[in-house]
Amino acid sequence: LDEKIQLKKRIAELLKEKQAVLVAHYYVDSDLQDLAEETGGCVSDSLEMARFGRDHAAKTLIVAGVKFMGETAKILSPEKTILMPDLDATCSLDLGCDPEEFAAFCDAHPDRTVVVYANTSAAVKARADWMVTSSVGLDIVAHLHAQGKKILWAPDKHLGGYIQKQTGADMLLWQGSCLVHDEFKGIELEILKESHPEAKILVHPESPAAVVALADVVGSTSQLINAAKTMDAQEFIVATDNGILHKMQMAAPGKKFIVAPTAGNSATCKSCAHCPWMAMNGLRNLLHVLETGENQIQVDPVVGKEAKRSIDRMLDFAA
Ligand code: 13P
Ligand code: SF4
Repeated sequence: LDEKIQLKKRIAELLKEKQAVLVAHYYVDSDLQDLAEETGGCVSDSLEMARFGRDHAAKTLIVAGVKFMGETAKILSPEKTILMPDLDATCSLDLGCDPEEFAAFCDAHPDRTVVVYANTSAAVKARADWMVTSSVGLDIVAHLHAQGKKILWAPDKHLGGYIQKQTGADMLLWQGSCLVHDEFKGIELEILKESHPEAKILVHPESPAAVVALADVVGSTSQLINAAKTMDAQEFIVATDNGILHKMQMAAPGKKFIVAPTAGNSATCKSCAHCPWMAMNGLRNLLHVLETGENQIQVDPVVGKEAKRSIDRMLDFAA
């Protein structure tokens, strides 16, 4: 415990000294989330992380999250130094959407407006017309659908399928998935709900359709935290990464949160409601990058400029 306090103190000093700010996602270790808040940084969903990083005056941003979040920060602010505690922290959606294969997919469907999820590489974003996060994806596709546009969507098939169902848009889906949310199970959730009849079910839309179908609220991480705070219920079953419980508990003290069931047999559960890449962010490697300046995120400026168009479209839409 003492070591933890010392580490946090040293990190806070260095952030000040180096005019750096810490931007953290809700799924990272609770110590990093607390530190981000205590030092004037932010802890948020991927949309707010992007906006906060872009608008903050700091010369250096430390992004505690996964690679696409660091890349988005760099694309929006190429003049800033973006550091990450571990450059190998990636995302199964990003890994499952190879830029060349994706370009071929787009080439085969030139009549479609290309909408990609934030959880992708800079090269994939560069090929897209729009980038969206889970908090605005539905509204943006509804907007495009109202204009009569046909959509090519990548990479998350569950989020894409959910948006398709809600909007009725013509969407061609890439077949990617998040290895954490893909583990949530509808049947087990139904059984759990039977023993907690008063509980409300909060679901991130990267979850399978059978889980989404049982939800009282479907939303981005920020939207789920807000629901936990404002809904008139004392108990919640939460289908997303368990890192979110720290903030939910703070936002709604006294309420009870239960993580939704993953695989029936825990031996087959690879990720058990916690993202292995988010978990690569810790106090020690954060201190290391602050001390050394190592682990800078680089994005090819030409690719970055192209990718920025699709991100800016979303930010303008969501403004
Ligand atoms: P949010 O945009 O809801 O924060 O989601 C990001 C993510 O990676 C969820 O798995
Ligand atoms: Fe990617 Fe899933 Fe991890 Fe989010 S939780 S970063 S979508 S693997």
